[in-house]
Amino acid sequence: MMNFTFKNNDFEDIVLNRRSIREYDPNVKISKEEMSQMLSEATRAPSSVNMQPWRFVIIESPEEKQRLKPLIRFNTKQNDTSSAMILIFGDIRCYELGEEIYNSAVEQGKMSAEVRDQQLAAIIPYYKNFSAKEMNDVVKIDCSLVAMQLMLVARAHGYDTNPIGGFEADQIAEAFDLDPDRYLPVMILSIGKAVDQGYQSVRLPIEKMATWK
Ligand SMILES: Cc1cc2nc3c(=O)[nH]c(=O)nc-3n(C[C@H](O)[C@H](O)[C@H](O)COP(=O)(O)O)c2cc1C
Repeated sequence: MMNFTFKNNDFEDIVLNRRSIREYDPNVKISKEEMSQMLSEATRAPSSVNMQPWRFVIIESPEEKQRLKPLIRFNTKQNDTSSAMILIFGDIRCYELGEEIYNSAVEQGKMSAEVRDQQLAAIIPYYKNFSAKEMNDVVKIDCSLVAMQLMLVARAHGYDTNPIGGFEADQIAEAFDLDPDRYLPVMILSIGKAVDQGYQSVRLPIEKMATWK
């Protein structure tokens, strides 16, 4: 069972008072232990066939933040003040971990060996046969779900975040020693202790966005 460590367990506050925070207390560091805990909670997010294609690079040292700086356009304040910049990549060869995932489900008594064998026999070839576009869509959907969950988990731990799409997507994998043909950059999240409340933002009315049939 997981060790629950939420400082804030008020779902209404976590969800409805989340705002994109772009400036943080630069003195606040997040321990590796707490960051790992947050990532572990965030990765309870669902993913297509449970393939968990998300990969994270946690940028927290001044040297690595300096390396990130030229790649994040106008988002420098988040980089300069955050406890960390979390790079989220989608692994387009995620199916290589499929066996490990399904084996551990069997080992933990959560799936029978028969179901594992049936599922893997169907899923692995299905994933391998995806076009680049199909795989791109799958990993971006899954990684977006984990990103959202991480933003909420961060608030439960007393931190705030900013989702960042303004970065040099064609350079970021290589800059951090990842194979750019394998790891698709999806989003960056800055995370830290907010020093302000962020901007108020508006939403369109639901009547404009939803239809009932
Ligand atoms: C995929 C994505 C990319 C974004 N990219 C940036 C960015 O590059 N820089 C930034 O300051 N905010 C960025 N934002 C934050 C949005 O501007 C913000 O979520 C939106 O204005 C609503 O405000 P709120 O998050 O405070 O509710 C991004 C948000 C998303 C979901």
